[in-house]
Amino acid sequence: MKVGLDLDEAKKLCDQLVRATAGVFVGQPLLLKKLLVAGLANGHVLFEDYPGLGKTLLVKVFARVTGCQYNRIQFTPDLLPADILGTKVWRQRDSSFELMKGPIFTNVLLADEVNRTPPKTQAALLEAMEERQVTIEGETHQLSMPFIVLATQNPIEQEGTYPLPEAQMDRFIMKLSTGYAASLQEESLILERRIQWQKDDPTADVQAVVSAEEFRSLQGLVETGIYVDRCILDYISEIVRKTREHPKVEVGSSPRGGLALLKLGRAMALASGRDFVTPDDVKMLAPDALSHRIILRMEEALEGLNADSIVWDVIDEVAAPKDFRPR
Ligand SMILES: Nc1ncnc2c1ncn2[C@@H]1O[C@H](COP(=O)(O)OP(=O)(O)OP(=O)(O)O)[C@@H](O)[C@H]1O
Ligand SMILES: [Mg+2]
Repeated sequence: MKVGLDLDEAKKLCDQLVRATAGVFVGQPLLLKKLLVAGLANGHVLFEDYPGLGKTLLVKVFARVTGCQYNRIQFTPDLLPADILGTKVWRQRDSSFELMKGPIFTNVLLADEVNRTPPKTQAALLEAMEERQVTIEGETHQLSMPFIVLATQNPIEQEGTYPLPEAQMDRFIMKLSTGYAASLQEESLILERRIQWQKDDPTADVQAVVSAEEFRSLQGLVETGIYVDRCILDYISEIVRKTREHPKVEVGSSPRGGLALLKLGRAMALASGRDFVTPDDVKMLAPDALSHRIILRMEEALEGLNADSIVWDVIDEVAAPKDFRPR
């Protein structure tokens, strides 16, 4: 894509990306748009879902339509940091060490079942996610752009799992769940598509809508082409602060949560064909962007309260900017 990609073109491409994903994955268009928006914001997403809900399929399709390279790591109890990052091996032939790059050197990384590996290995992934570089035996290597980790974890507390510490959850720009098919028709559509594909995994046949280069240009436009009014910044800041003051909350959202909301708001504006962020963008994205950063007080957690409901309380409480005018 050339310099000077305009908003209309960007919107068209975003619509096509969502449509192409929906052509394979049966699910709500809003979920698919949110995943795209996270990608446009160059953010990482944590999917929390039961098995067999199409997470792997969704991630693979996302990588295909965005023209991105894709790798997958299955997290197991015996996985080591070097299995993710890579390692140096001795080459007898030329008497030197050669870097064997690990699967993290890719654009879209599916980190399947991250909670099945011990904290040390989780930490290797989470550090790379934040710093977008890795250090292997003293040498630093930049990761590719885009670099998007789409991680999955199972919500059932099972033996032999190591839940991601809340502090590590902060690295994900949002937490989403694919959920079950919304209707009987959609449930059947999954079966119909399977007959049509004549195989379990149709992703190899999915055409790219954009190249990775073009996707990068879209990401660039999010950074440079979307106006954020002062009142939107204040709105985001107030929401974030209020999560910390909520009586049922032990630890509220970090400042990183506010930054996530800012980035996602801009990406949502672009995907919607606007060059400015609205209060509604912020409202719509706040639960997905913030709830996984909130630690509830013990009593509330034991009663099964959901952190989403805290964010909804806060959104109700904080007045959205009135008479909002872009510029
Ligand atoms: N919403 C959906 N749309 C289309 N196919 C789906 C959907 N949900 C599940 N499937 C199909 O169900 C099968 C299982 O999906 P997939 O392997 O992606 O699930 P998963 O969530 O990754 O499961 P696990 O947690 O066990 O790894 C695949 O063949 C996939 O095509
Ligand atoms: Mg899977």
